Amino acid sequence: MFKKSFVAVVAATLALTACGGGSDAGGGGGSDDGITMGFAQVGAESGWRTANTKSVQDSAKEAGVDLKFSDAQQKQENQIKAIRSYIQQQVDVIAFSPVVESGWDTVLKEAKDADIPVILTDRSVDSADTSLYKTFLGSDFVEEGKKAGDWLVQDSASTDGPINIVELQGTTGAAPAIDRKEGFEAAIAADPDLKIVQSQTGDFTRSGGKQVMEAFLKNTPDIDVVYAHNDDMGLGAIEAIEAAGKVPGKDIKIITVDAVKDGMTALSEGKINYIVECNPLLGDQLMDLAEKVVAGEEVPARVVTEESAFTPEQAKEVLASREY
Ligand code: AHR
Repeated sequence: MFKKSFVAVVAATLALTACGGGSDAGGGGGSDDGITMGFAQVGAESGWRTANTKSVQDSAKEAGVDLKFSDAQQKQENQIKAIRSYIQQQVDVIAFSPVVESGWDTVLKEAKDADIPVILTDRSVDSADTSLYKTFLGSDFVEEGKKAGDWLVQDSASTDGPINIVELQGTTGAAPAIDRKEGFEAAIAADPDLKIVQSQTGDFTRSGGKQVMEAFLKNTPDIDVVYAHNDDMGLGAIEAIEAAGKVPGKDIKIITVDAVKDGMTALSEGKINYIVECNPLLGDQLMDLAEKVVAGEEVPARVVTEESAFTPEQAKEVLASREY
């Protein structure tokens, strides 16, 4: 069933590392009793991503999956190179979290022609041809944005007058940036006082969030709310707000998405006001889907991650037991 050829590895400008069970002789093929997965990760841009990478690597080890892992450093061309390398190595299955939504058709067709199934994990692609991948495992990002907006609508219900929101967007063209914006805008449309007065990308990084927030604080009077598409950008914004002599969570309210340890700590301290959870622990589900797909079993076209949201009080309760 599984491919076991030992094709030479494509010259790699990428850091491709093998981990998990199974042999990697000649750089290709699967182990005797397990499958080989090529995993093309986005990068290491956030606490969420670090937790996601660890989850995938730990679960692969546990499941006896021979994992070939690459870090694309948030560049689509690096992910495409990594996927082509996995095709060349004739892995049993390819999984990846697309850095941006568009531009995948050609490489996905190459994988399909090579008869290698592809699983999208965390983020999706906008390809019209859904036969190019077997399933998409990940969060409902529109729903996450909606939860953030719904909280703000409720929180501002008793406030009169305009409320100025600045938005720190994720990576331009990435599914979570597009969808979290869409969901949030749809929710705040319920209250005409809520206005997004500035919106720019901070690329899902803490330094990006800080830099963009510094600019917003200089050029935008009366900022009431920051909506950051992830915790890291929100944490960067906190640094900028404090440096400007304002109190995050009080002078300027902050809403973020992810609920990683650093974000939850800031939430429990009242520096963030609300966090919508995005669960990075996708490893076990991914290995399960991979084994089924490689065995030729049917899998659901979409597997949605279950998630919640937290207030400062709830953060205090769960912080000690948080896994990531
Ligand atoms: O795709 C998931 C998003 O990517 C996370 O919310 C963010 O932290 C990460 O960089």
